Amino acid sequence: MSVKDLMTPAFQKAEGGLFSKVTKADAGVDIEALLADGFTILSWADPFFPDPSTPEFVLDATIDALKSGVCNHYTSPLGSNELKEVIAEKLREYNGLTVDPKRNILITPGSDSGLFFAMYAFIEQGDEILIPDPCYPNNFQNVETRGGVLVPVPLRAENGFQPVAAEFEARITEKTKMLVLTNPNNPTTTVFTRKNMLELAKMCIEHDLVCVVDQAFEDIIFDGREMVTMAALPGMWERTVTVFSVSKGMGLSGYRVGYIVADDVVMDALYGTAVSVIGAANTAAQKAVVEALRRPGFVQDYAETFDRRRHKIMEILNGVPGIKTWLPESGFLLWIDVSALGSSAEVCDYLFKHAKVSVNDGTAYGVQGKGHIRIVFGCLRDDEKLYDAFRRIAKAFTELAKKKGIY
Ligand SMILES: Cc1ncc(COP(=O)(O)O)c(C=O)c1O
Repeated sequence: MSVKDLMTPAFQKAEGGLFSKVTKADAGVDIEALLADGFTILSWADPFFPDPSTPEFVLDATIDALKSGVCNHYTSPLGSNELKEVIAEKLREYNGLTVDPKRNILITPGSDSGLFFAMYAFIEQGDEILIPDPCYPNNFQNVETRGGVLVPVPLRAENGFQPVAAEFEARITEKTKMLVLTNPNNPTTTVFTRKNMLELAKMCIEHDLVCVVDQAFEDIIFDGREMVTMAALPGMWERTVTVFSVSKGMGLSGYRVGYIVADDVVMDALYGTAVSVIGAANTAAQKAVVEALRRPGFVQDYAETFDRRRHKIMEILNGVPGIKTWLPESGFLLWIDVSALGSSAEVCDYLFKHAKVSVNDGTAYGVQGKGHIRIVFGCLRDDEKLYDAFRRIAKAFTELAKKKGIY
């Protein structure tokens, strides 16, 4: 018997390590080697990667924190009180949530660990979990590693990738325990409407479901759309665990700071187990994030950059044969239907070889991702370098279309 046989079935099946072909979004390629080889990385949802982009005042706050000489020490496993107070203020102003910073917020080392922890606390073997498809791949893996059963619910292009409550409700059984949402959605950038969120909320209440919502992409929303926080809807605070991040809108992914927000009853259990499950977030990073949250004006500059870019890349891709894409509603991701040109893997591979770009295979985001790819247009500091990469992509798509006989 191999020691692997002693692992849980879900861990035995996990791919993306040393011995299997990788299909996961962000893993498996040697990014440093690719950069050295002149590739443009458009597969990491990391603003301005790999260029320097820390706002000056955040950098100063980081250096001051380090020089204070206390950053070698742990902060509380629940997070720094100062940070939790600033977050409570932001939750009140931006999310319509009034919380007690000492009872309802838990700081996590990035939001991935928060998302895992939030789901871990509820999911048992055999529990059925409703998850929109396509969505962030970690949602699938987190369910599976707990022995839960994935119940993907398609988000359809013809509905603007909005979640239709009836489609979720039709899949509910007595084993359904949780609804997981990524709002705005990764990879489609869809900002879920208030009407759809209210219908999903009603469904959660009627069927006694817990709702885990990942709002990592909440900061950058285009065209005046409303960002609706599920936990702020009537009857949802008690049954919603919300996960936030400073990695995306604030572009502070390397700081590894995220936070979970939940009601006292849930938080009582999460606080009780946090120290052994997630440890504590980095002390200097938490101090720097306090300053970033106090002066979030730079996020507006980022939003303007991504707004400008989304229009320009649509212009570059306009008229390219064999593809269909949608103007992003939020953030810095582009979702493209390339099914006329081949499988997602074939198209990613073609772009890799002929346009020297790394993009994401849509199948990592669920069954609905078949024939799709995701491109991160938030990468690189210089707009022109990004547009140059998109021109290479447009050229490669056109060549591929010609090879497939599409004009
Ligand atoms: C939707 C979504 N949620 C959460 C995360 C995790 O971000 P972090 O752990 O950096 O906070 C990501 C990262 O790509 C993401 O795309």
